[in-house]
This record gives sequence, structure tokens and C-alpha cells, in this order.
Amino acid sequence: MPDPVRLAVVTLFPQMFTGVFDSGIIRALRDAGRAEIETCDLRDFTHDRHRSVDDRPYGGGEGMVLKPEPVFEAVETIEQRWGTRARRILLTPQGIPFRQGAARRLAEEKALVLICGRYEGVDQRVVEHLVEEEVSIGDFIVSGGEIPAMLLIDAILRCVPGATGNPASVINESFQQNLLDYPQYTRPASFRGWVVPEVLMSGNHAEIAAWRKRQARLRTHQNRPDLMVREVTGVEEGRGPGSDLD
Ligand SMILES: C[S@@+](CC[C@H](N)C(=O)[O-])C[C@H]1O[C@@H](n2cnc3c(N)ncnc32)[C@H](O)[C@@H]1O
Repeated sequence: MPDPVRLAVVTLFPQMFTGVFDSGIIRALRDAGRAEIETCDLRDFTHDRHRSVDDRPYGGGEGMVLKPEPVFEAVETIEQRWGTRARRILLTPQGIPFRQGAARRLAEEKALVLICGRYEGVDQRVVEHLVEEEVSIGDFIVSGGEIPAMLLIDAILRCVPGATGNPASVINESFQQNLLDYPQYTRPASFRGWVVPEVLMSGNHAEIAAWRKRQARLRTHQNRPDLMVREVTGVEEGRGPGSDLD
């Protein structure tokens, strides 16, 4: 059996992860010894009476900023215990947008540390001297990096070989070829008068495949025309300036 993927989340709210880590594919991978996942409470790496993790921003302005010392210490302690350097990722709205290609790429890493910001974010020295990647889940702000981290972990772990019962289900999904998935139907064949497209019940595999391909293109054209541009121009992997970290 291959070595398990090691994954740690540095957070002020470890309790938020309990349900997520104990359910579905993530739980199955843990139970099978394919993934070792842990949370790391940032406050355990403070050394003052108040267990302070944040402070006022230099230069003034609203809110508080996460101090660098506990974040560095947490990551370095995890890596020392693991005896290996991890791929270090900071969740931040200023990061590169997360896409399926990044999930596939990160699923090949042996050790990952995800750092969750809070308040106004983290001290810039974390960005410049600790992490390799800054990742955003989209052009909106949530209150902390925990939900973004959960989202990444789920997307990454389902790309680990053997995570899903049927490997094809990960291959034939939206975004795999810069296309959205085709429409799916199950029984009954007629529901409130809305019937399943006949071709899907024809048993003709070539026609079904062609229909699905057409539908995938149609849906992508309607809902995500930006993906079609990627398909035409062949935009895919890359993390250079202006790239999408996929
Ligand atoms: C309230 S946000 C800070 C926003 C920051 N002041 C800014 O304008 O960029 C607090 C934390 O939530 C997380 N966060 C918020 N939105 C995010 C997003 N779109 N993607 C990833 N992380 C996000 C980050 O970890 C961030 O440090």
C-alpha cells in the first residue's frame, strides 16, 4: 500500500473540522490508512499568559492581524514531527483561484499543511517566508480560512487514487477537460410527465457518448463560456504570473 497522504490544518478553530473529517470520502481514506489528517490549534504555539495570536496592524487601520510567530512555530513543529517538509498553503482571498487542476496536482503531494487566516489576515512574513502557495476559493470574503481549507481538502483527497469506488467517476467530471459534466438521470423514466431523453435508454453506447459530449458542450457554453475559451486556447496547468494555479 502507498504511504498515506499527510495533511495538517493550522487553525484557531479546530473543532470546526470534526464533522467534515469524520464523513464520506475523507473518513474512508483515514479508516483505510490512506490519509493521516490532523488539526493544529494555533493557540498551542503561543507563549504569553493570554495566548495571543493576533495584534494590531502596523500603520493603523481596522481589525487585527495574525502574528507570525505562532504560525511559523506550528508549521515547523508539524514538519519536525513528520520528519519531512510539507507543501505549505495559505488560504487567502488574495491567492490564486483554486481549480480542479490544482486539486489533482496537490493530490500527488505526500505532505500538505494548510494555514487558515482569520480577522484581517496573516502577517505578510508568513506569505513571503513560510508558504509556497496562496490559494483563494473565489472572489468573495469569508470570515476565516477554515471553510476554504475544508473545501480544498475534500477536492484534493477525492483525487487520491482509490478515493472513490470507481476511478472513472473522478475522470469523467466537470472541469476535467475544461467542460462541465453532462446531465444525469435515474429512475423513474417518467416523472410528473418529464421524461428521460430516449437516447439514454437506447443501449447504443456510441450514441449515448455523442449525446453526452454535445450536452456537456451546451451546458458549458450556457453556464461557463470562460471554460470554453480555455478549451480552445489550451489553457491548463501553470503557476506563473497571471496563471490560474490549475
Ligand atoms: C476576513 S478574511 C480577511 C480578508 C482580508 N482582509 C482581505 O481583504 O484580503 C479572514 C481570512 O479568511 C480566509 N478567507 C476569506 N476569504 C477567502 C477566500 N476567498 N479564499 C480563501 N480564504 C479566504 C483567509 O484565510 C483570510 O485570512
